[in-house]
Amino acid sequence: MIVCSCNVLSDGAVRDCLNGGPACPRTPAQVYACLGCSPKCGRCARTIRAIMRNALEGAALDAAHGGSHACNTGCASGCSLGKVQTAGEGIAA
Ligand code: FES
Repeated sequence: MIVCSCNVLSDGAVRDCLNGGPACPRTPAQVYACLGCSPKCGRCARTIRAIMRNALEGAALDAAHGGSHACNTGCASGCSLGKVQTAGEGIAA
């Protein structure tokens, strides 16, 4: 889905430029720079910030639990969907 119509940036492109390292973009402006463009109208900044928050919180949960959290909402231990699964766990019948 296109999240920035001025620069034709997709949500996937934004997520792809995020990584867990020290060079990871921490602001929407850094995301634009990472993707080789700059903000124009700024209408997408809030959406880009939300994508960043969700992606980085999801990565933190994955690291903390050693598995994946399918809904990616940051609710880990209280999640009623029980989507956290470690590598050693099988699928319950
Ligand atoms: S929609 Fe992204 S800068 Fe205008």
